[in-house]
Amino acid sequence: KNEISIGLLGLGTVGTGVAKILQQHQQDLHHKLGVPVTIKKVLVRNHNKERLSSLDPNVFTTDIQEILNDSSLDIIVEVMGGIDGAKKAIEEALKSGKQVVTANKDVMAEYGHELLKLADAEKCDLFYEASVAGGIPIIRTLEDGLASDRISSLMGIVNGTTNFILTKMKKEKMSYEDALAEATKLGYAEADPSSDVDGVDAARKMVILSSLAYSTEVHLDDVLVRGMKEIQDGDLEMAEKFGYTMKMVGSSKKDEEGIEVSVEPIFLANSHPLASVNNEFNAVYIYGDAVGETMLYGPGAGSLPTATSVVSDIIAACRNLLMEVNGKRMHSAQHERVIKPENS
Ligand code: NDP
Ligand code: HSE
Repeated sequence: KNEISIGLLGLGTVGTGVAKILQQHQQDLHHKLGVPVTIKKVLVRNHNKERLSSLDPNVFTTDIQEILNDSSLDIIVEVMGGIDGAKKAIEEALKSGKQVVTANKDVMAEYGHELLKLADAEKCDLFYEASVAGGIPIIRTLEDGLASDRISSLMGIVNGTTNFILTKMKKEKMSYEDALAEATKLGYAEADPSSDVDGVDAARKMVILSSLAYSTEVHLDDVLVRGMKEIQDGDLEMAEKFGYTMKMVGSSKKDEEGIEVSVEPIFLANSHPLASVNNEFNAVYIYGDAVGETMLYGPGAGSLPTATSVVSDIIAACRNLLMEVNGKRMHSAQHERVIKPENS
């Protein structure tokens, strides 16, 4: 192979960041991989939209099949969002032997197990680092870095939008509505921000993290979800008065009785390390039998931080393509599903 060709599905917040990193780090990537990596086609919904990207508009198309049917493309990068269309695109890409990179936690939480099995069957890669905690390499940490350990619990702030809103409401006394509008303007919120504020986005991320941490299948229905509407008037002031901070926290633990996963707003003592994770930043605490406590911290949403994870996945897919070792990954769900009844 003397070049790797990419089909980019989506040129919004994340897609624009991916295009920017691939263009600005072009020389470094060429040097690292030994071949150039080039975006050959880009799917957009609206051809006439003004773009922040300097990509040649001649590579734009509104016809997804033009990209999925193009046998010259090596890697499909799905950053368009949504569930059904994105799932179908990922399936088609894998079935035609392409490597796939996605930032889509909605699809990975609902259909990740099925799609990873398909990727294994097709001997293709399906990478999804950006689906949880934007720029934090949490998926690789669970899959590889802590593969030797037995993880007993996870706790984290995994939604940037709600953390941004709570930070602005606490520190700048901003209204909920204004803070959400700013998070949307900055590209942190989902296309439908109700999935952020209702806790569903964080629940999907906890499904992905818990499935990986405990090598089993955890489903969205297994997660107890309480959103921001559970926060009462005066809760933030009360928390402040008594030395606490209100945070939307995802928790999951595994013991001899099974697995429990939840997302809810909770009062954290100000001395707790998660209490000082502010704005769109995320953090995930991992408790492993052997390692003890580990915490990963970093930007959880936004164009370039998220794109960093996507491009790292592209590099991993390129390396596998160049070495022809793709599809040799072990599937993550090897253990029986045991969810505590009170959680379902
Ligand atoms: P945006 O809404 O900003 O961008 C979506 C892009 O996909 C747009 O370019 C849009 O085209 C295109 N698109 C969407 N649907 C279609 C369609 N049916 N046909 C053609 N083009 C389509 O989304 P984001 O970049 O914010 O998010 C993308 C994905 O990444 C989502 O799955 C999201 O959950 C995930 N993600 C987002 C993060 C963030 O911080 N924003 C962080 C981590 C993950 P057009 O530009 O013409 O409208
Ligand atoms: N809407 C998501 C968030 C984007 O705010 O965390 C990152 O997954």
